[in-house]
Amino acid sequence: MLLKKLIFFAGKGGVGKSTLSCAVALRLSEIEKTLLVSVDPAHSLSGILGIQIGPVVRAINDNLYAIELSAQELVEKYTKRVISALGDFLPNVKAGLKEYSQYIKHSPTALETVILDHLLDLSQDYAYVVIDSAPTGQMLRLFETAHMVSGWFNFLSRLAKERQKVQTFMGKEDDFYKIIEERKQRIENLLNLLREKGIIFAIANEEPLSLKEAQDIQEALRDMKVYKVINRWKYMEGDFIKIPSLESPYGIENLKNLKVEPLLEFIVYKAIS
Ligand SMILES: Nc1ncnc2c1ncn2[C@@H]1O[C@H](COP(=O)(O)OP(=O)(O)O)[C@@H](O)[C@H]1O
Ligand SMILES: [Mg+2]
Repeated sequence: MLLKKLIFFAGKGGVGKSTLSCAVALRLSEIEKTLLVSVDPAHSLSGILGIQIGPVVRAINDNLYAIELSAQELVEKYTKRVISALGDFLPNVKAGLKEYSQYIKHSPTALETVILDHLLDLSQDYAYVVIDSAPTGQMLRLFETAHMVSGWFNFLSRLAKERQKVQTFMGKEDDFYKIIEERKQRIENLLNLLREKGIIFAIANEEPLSLKEAQDIQEALRDMKVYKVINRWKYMEGDFIKIPSLESPYGIENLKNLKVEPLLEFIVYKAIS
């Protein structure tokens, strides 16, 4: 299925990211097949929707699916994959790789890498993917990681090319270059996806610190579509989307009453160009 939009809800803790993610995903699923993903380690989708959601995609209704990513589980799988690939290319040091796996697991970008990788896979099957992000700092790191890993793979690719020349000279096959190129392509695809289909709602309320964080997100992610949103809007005027309060925003039926139309307008109509 062709992905139309990858929608991130970002902002300070407690501003309403999870609540708005749920409400928007519910409404989008009335139009087309939608996936709701929580990447915040402090998952709260289950509590808000009143339905148990876990680390495996589950159907909420005909058109809505949800998952709370277990980054730790994904890191474990990722580490095994890296170690097994390295073992194939460096059979002499296979024994030492077990110890090395600890370093991979705790490497600074492992968590972000596996989350992005998984998002790319998940995005294949839905028209809309709605992402309940972790609070601002972690969320910005997710985007920085994508750029950083891309740079890293460009570097690796140059090294791999040199290695390939030597191997060919010695009359040997070399799959290493091919594997690096595949990974590099995957990261490029992800960056393109974020640029072309990504839309970020930087959520705040009328509290100054949350407004500042929304502003920071907009400034940090200049090459993406970032829209500021005031959730639980009361009186403040300015250049942002306003979402009013709802008395009890819990459970599917109640959440359908949350007035998220201005957000849907940006997702479905205005952001098409
Ligand atoms: N539009 C709204 N109207 C009323 N209450 C809201 C609204 N949005 C969020 N809340 C409430 O604010 C609190 C924080 O919301 P939550 O979605 O968990 O924030 P975050 O995910 O950003 O930490 C929750 O108690 C939630 O019910
Ligand atoms: Mg939340």
